[in-house]
Amino acid sequence: MPSRHQPVLMDPVLDALQPRRGGFFVDATVGGGGHAHAVLSASSDVRLLAIDRDAQALERARQRLEEFGDRVQFAHAPFSAIESLVEEAGLGPVAGILADFGVSSDQIDDRDRGFSFQQDGPLDMRMDRTLQKTSAAVLLANASEDEIEKWLRVYGEERFSRRVANAIIKQRRFGPLLRTSQLADLVARTIPGGRSGHNPATRTFQALRIAVNRELDEIDAFLHAAPRLLAPGGRLAVISFHSLEDRLAKHSFRNEARGGEFENLIPRGTVATQSEMRANPRSRSARLRALERSSVGDAN
Ligand SMILES: C[S@@+](CC[C@H](N)C(=O)[O-])C[C@H]1O[C@@H](n2cnc3c(N)ncnc32)[C@H](O)[C@@H]1O
Repeated sequence: MPSRHQPVLMDPVLDALQPRRGGFFVDATVGGGGHAHAVLSASSDVRLLAIDRDAQALERARQRLEEFGDRVQFAHAPFSAIESLVEEAGLGPVAGILADFGVSSDQIDDRDRGFSFQQDGPLDMRMDRTLQKTSAAVLLANASEDEIEKWLRVYGEERFSRRVANAIIKQRRFGPLLRTSQLADLVARTIPGGRSGHNPATRTFQALRIAVNRELDEIDAFLHAAPRLLAPGGRLAVISFHSLEDRLAKHSFRNEARGGEFENLIPRGTVATQSEMRANPRSRSARLRALERSSVGDAN
């Protein structure tokens, strides 16, 4: 099935990466292939390494990008391994890297993946079902109340983290939590609904997804490695969807820029226009940041 994912912040991403220059680009989160398609279309001199840890996403991207033939290479891997993936690709110095963090609409909309509290499905949430062994159900079945509380508080920024963790532990006495609807109902019974109309399970699902996929460790490792893979004048663009992701990118880019070898191109980040937010609600929480490696001779 073709991807239904609508890429966010397309124009600012292309402004940041400048693929018209041609060269070797990396899409570390190719997903449905929307950004990758635009990068490859910008110049026939673009070659692209397309990475995703989700085999299904990669297959969709493969079909979407078929027209570009051997200008694209695919890698089924986590982006924390970007350094060795770039080396293995053997395509030379990197002109631009994009990472569009989080999950795609294709993943959320597929009830069998267990990411959504709006549809019943297995409580899975693994982005890579071939290599990752621990689903959300397994994680919840084995964690202590304190561990669960910490994930909810830190990864979900859930005010009622103790109450929800305690309810999960109590529920376990009656049998394992195996379905998304079981967890969503339990949270709805345990805490009040949000004022903004958000489903009360939103933060719990975010927290669990981050814990299952070790998302912040992945981003940390990626942000550590990616800048140094850039050729002089090369650019790194990252899109985050919540404050935990954005904080990592903001601090990393600020630190890199302090050394003088990199320039923080958009210190406050770029957000979607009102019209994009209306057309694509996912873009409402997106923020783009970009970093450039100085050209030879630019560094002090
Ligand atoms: C928001 S989507 C990307 C959408 C894409 N930019 C497009 O235009 O269709 C995020 C993708 O990143 C992948 N992903 C998330 N974390 C990852 C990681 N640590 N390593 C590799 N891929 C990851 C997900 O599987 C998902 O397909």
